[in-house]
Amino acid sequence: MADKLFVFDTTLRDGEQVPGCQLNTVEKIEVARALEALGVDILEAGFPISSPGDFNSVREISKAVTWPVICALTRAVEKDIDVAADALAYAKHKRIHTGIGVSEFHIYDKLKSNPEEILERAVAAVKYAKKYVEDVEFYAEDAGRADNEYLARVVEAVIKAGATVVNIPDTTGYCLPSQYGAKIKYLVDHVDGIDKAIIATHCHNDLGMATANALTGVINGARQVEVTINGIGERAGNTSLEEVVMALRCHKHLGIDTNINSQRILETSRLVSNLMNMPVQPNKAIVGRNAFAHSSGIHQDGVLKNRENYEIIDPKDIGMTDTEIVLTARSGRAALHHRLGVLGVHLEQEALDKVYEEFLKLADKKKEIRDEDLLVLVGEKMKDAMQRKISLKYLQVLTGTLIPTATLILEIGGTAFTATETGNGPVDAAINAIKSILKEQIVLQEFLLQAMTKGSNDVGRVHIQVGLEGAVSHGFAANTDIVRAAVEAYIDGVNKLLGGNN
Ligand code: KIV
Ligand code: ZN
Repeated sequence: MADKLFVFDTTLRDGEQVPGCQLNTVEKIEVARALEALGVDILEAGFPISSPGDFNSVREISKAVTWPVICALTRAVEKDIDVAADALAYAKHKRIHTGIGVSEFHIYDKLKSNPEEILERAVAAVKYAKKYVEDVEFYAEDAGRADNEYLARVVEAVIKAGATVVNIPDTTGYCLPSQYGAKIKYLVDHVDGIDKAIIATHCHNDLGMATANALTGVINGARQVEVTINGIGERAGNTSLEEVVMALRCHKHLGIDTNINSQRILETSRLVSNLMNMPVQPNKAIVGRNAFAHSSGIHQDGVLKNRENYEIIDPKDIGMTDTEIVLTARSGRAALHHRLGVLGVHLEQEALDKVYEEFLKLADKKKEIRDEDLLVLVGEKMKDAMQRKISLKYLQVLTGTLIPTATLILEIGGTAFTATETGNGPVDAAINAIKSILKEQIVLQEFLLQAMTKGSNDVGRVHIQVGLEGAVSHGFAANTDIVRAAVEAYIDGVNKLLGGNN
């Protein structure tokens, strides 16, 4: 049986420290529930002394979430610990996470202290936290740049004082994987009583090595990883949960696994990205839009023959329903044939060759060839237009200080339908108006708005996913008016959904 690796998620504490990513309590509860469903073992809910909002969030998350341990961060300061204990009052399983800086920078420059005094303060903080909770985690801040011998003395002392977990943060993301791994091994080999505590990795990504460092720490004996969804966090971020989890699933020979339900990874990633307004970079490992998209001809052909030719993870394992094939000038006939098949167009070899020639000409002019373009190429545009029953004829939206209200006219099968609805914003109002006309239980499952380049006059591109009774479809539109782009993308998705052209 695989050794268990505890997953400590700090999306709501370290992740939330990112400027512009702050969530309100209701949003934090939504993320906390998603993390619970994902299967994280420990959920760091906040830093209660830092603000009344953080205190309240820790308290409310403690009530809302029951399975994971709820953790609250403190400095090695009694008042912080008192407030954290209070915030955790309703948690079923609770942990206080206290600590202090242990590198020379932190000891002398930040804390204006000396190594002996820091060691005493570390021990005192752990003992004080133990008065409130059994489960106390100690973090040795900037351990990545600390002297290993001194670090080992501090770790040994806090374990004697009752720490159940010792966290070895590479706070500045400085270490190379070999250095970080050696640091963990040094502690395993030199700390008396190390077997009484769990060693945790907490790696920042300043040099792009957070995941590599965390994994090297695990290989050398750590059994807790501190991670965030999408790798968000201070500066370049933290180790990303999805990368560690899937790396261990791909390398089963390591004999280490987590409790994470990987099929919820994508959904959780999107939730966090949307609520925190932090787009995921397209090429982000595991959860980026392009992580499973194949655009070169050779790769597309290979994936169609056998997914494992070019994919080490089955996209379904992270909750993705289908591998996306993006057609470009480098796509081959096999990919074109496959995509046309998905669109319901089956061509004989000769016809396919002709379409392929036209496709290459178009692909030279356009970067990505979408379904729309393909249908035009094969002369299916008219058929498609007949299937597309809904088109937008008029849209007016009032917003600003008023309750957002949208009036629109849809033409469906030659007949015009008008509706006026309100919403919590202009897009919500417009979509409510469409729903009031269609009277179908269509669910908006994903909404992504991206600027093409920059500037307030830029074109906004909207990508949405809509679902109805288990079927899903994607809609796209681009416009300098982002409300119009959103409405058109929604209608595009609905047309595909109702026309069976997903
Ligand atoms: O990076 C760090 O050192 C931290 C600690 C507060 C755990 O986030
Ligand atoms: Zn951190």
